Amino acid sequence: METAFAIPIRRTTKSRLDQTRFDRLAFGKEPTDHLFISEFAGNEWRDPRIEPFHDLRLSPFALALHYGQTVFEGMKAFRMEDGRISIFRPDKHHERFNRSLERMCMPAVPSEIFLQALHELVDLDRDWAPTQPEGALYLRPFMFASEARLGVKVADEYIFMIVATPVAQYYANPLRVKVELEYVRAAEGGTGYAKCGGNYGAAFYPTQQARAEGFDQVLWTDSRHHEFIEESGTMNAMFIIDDTLITPLLTPTLLDGVTRDSILTLARQRGMATEERSISWKELQAALRGGKRVEAFGAGTAAVVAPIEWIQIGSEGFGCYTNDDAVMYSFKRELHAIRTGSQPDIHGWNYVV
Ligand code: COI
Repeated sequence: METAFAIPIRRTTKSRLDQTRFDRLAFGKEPTDHLFISEFAGNEWRDPRIEPFHDLRLSPFALALHYGQTVFEGMKAFRMEDGRISIFRPDKHHERFNRSLERMCMPAVPSEIFLQALHELVDLDRDWAPTQPEGALYLRPFMFASEARLGVKVADEYIFMIVATPVAQYYANPLRVKVELEYVRAAEGGTGYAKCGGNYGAAFYPTQQARAEGFDQVLWTDSRHHEFIEESGTMNAMFIIDDTLITPLLTPTLLDGVTRDSILTLARQRGMATEERSISWKELQAALRGGKRVEAFGAGTAAVVAPIEWIQIGSEGFGCYTNDDAVMYSFKRELHAIRTGSQPDIHGWNYVV
């Protein structure tokens, strides 16, 4: 792909690539050799550049540390069959990033900077893209308020960065989830649709409680009635019941998942019935009690397609269908085939570096 403008690069003189155990990757532990950074001040983005990966020097007064103006994205680059590297749907991630930033009163990042920074960083650290089938180079653009001020205010200064890390499969095993009937992730009018740090921090406590009860994740429900399924931990929730793919309608309390959108597109292309609508735990319970085959899974960039094998609703638990012929796995295979170039990319999802 042609590049718009060149971002200055300072290369590392000491690559850590050789010391990295690609057979033992823990998610997000191992940074690649470089990062992208640019500062926002005086109402403009300054000095976009790529440097060797380094820690930050930050004032303890930095506003993000106190009032939480911090937003991130998560996307992946894949090693294609022909050896090239492709980034999956960076334009859609960029749109979502800017939507999140707007909700948090933070300045937008122009697409030229966002895409060019991704392009050059991935190009430079391309050897960090894992070769194993479930592997990918995970890309983490993020922005936070760096202005040093303790007054409660919208910051005037920010730092935008992109870091990268080689990853393997996010969840090693099918998940056991608990329908959350007490705590909420997001309420109407809140920040649910934004990928802001606070949404994740606030989810830790209920998730820890669910873990202590033997579950991997919670299935969030709506804040008013605790009845309608919203999303699950780090993923959108999807179900296949009676050959129909059902997923909660996008509302302002839900994250507009790129994997969710891609799976819906693939399902429609196959002629499969899809429904984006409210789905209550009561409907799930009725289907499961009635012995219907229910496939349940989480869809997300990190998780891709994460099968759910058990859903706990109050004191009642149900097994979901996770056998090898489950339809959800076919979406995972198809996404993999598109990303690696063994299936035509008819939607133009791959940004080939
Ligand atoms: C992602 O899927 O990229 C996420 O943001 C989930 C998690 C790793 C925070």
